[in-house]
Amino acid sequence: MTRTALITGASRGIGAAIARRLAADGWDLSLAARSPGPLRALADELHARYGVRVHTAPGDMAEEADVRDVARQHLTAYDGRLDALVLSAGMGQTGAIADFPLARLDKQYAVNLRAPFQLVQECLPALRATASPARDGTGVHRGSRVVAIASITGVAAEPSLAAYAATKAALLSLCESVNVEESEAGVSACAVAPGYVDTDMTSWMHERLAPEDMITAEDVAEMVSSVVGLSRTAVVPSIVITRPGRRLWRA
Ligand SMILES: NC(=O)c1ccc[n+]([C@@H]2O[C@H](COP(=O)([O-])OP(=O)(O)OC[C@H]3O[C@@H](n4cnc5c(N)ncnc54)[C@H](OP(=O)(O)O)[C@@H]3O)[C@@H](O)[C@H]2O)c1
Repeated sequence: MTRTALITGASRGIGAAIARRLAADGWDLSLAARSPGPLRALADELHARYGVRVHTAPGDMAEEADVRDVARQHLTAYDGRLDALVLSAGMGQTGAIADFPLARLDKQYAVNLRAPFQLVQECLPALRATASPARDGTGVHRGSRVVAIASITGVAAEPSLAAYAATKAALLSLCESVNVEESEAGVSACAVAPGYVDTDMTSWMHERLAPEDMITAEDVAEMVSSVVGLSRTAVVPSIVITRPGRRLWRA
């Protein structure tokens, strides 16, 4: 039976790279983000190239009703099967704690943490059912996975990223909680925590750090592809991807 993944933040950047990689691996997908146009274009490209099914599920992760609807759309399209929930939608705004507007903290909290928490909640029954041995037709029993794209700033602080980093640290913690609550039932979670990745999100950094010195979105996708290919007995709570240099855990 073909494995299915719901990928948020799939319209560009890391989420799109993960979609390309899982499609190449033969997965059927649902792609979520706010912009329907880029989602549709990517879905058509992946279907034409790899012959996999690709459903699009537009929605705003800052809106509780949209988050619920994105989950529902995937589960309807794939008859309740969900092998991997990949949480890549995210946003970041810089600023020191001293004068950081609380409304910006609220927005980052909503998109980077509240929506992932809600999506895990909405999808847990399907993840559990898919993880049960009766649903596994691959030979290897892989269980099902939540993979959340956190950030290295959730592991070690960087100046002017306090609000963003706090949401990402919380995402690392959420993955650990999924593991302690659900991994015996076959549902495990992994937070992938990269330093600066060359995407739209880091274009403002180019004067300080050249794109070619950043981690690539394909590097992150490679990690995700590996984790979702493991057997259910291998639980990987987190993966940190740092850049070369004398200081580990730097963004
Ligand atoms: N780039 C980095 O250096 C880096 C490093 C560590 C971790 N990360 C994390 O990796 C994830 C992906 O980042 P990226 O670099 O790929 O960024 P990106 O290129 O800016 O892409 C962000 C994605 O999230 C979606 N998104 C943003 N706000 C949304 C909302 N309110 N509702 C639904 N979707 C929303 C965007 O689509 P729409 O605009 O169409 O909604 C887009 O698909 C994020 O969680 C980010 O925090 C990035």
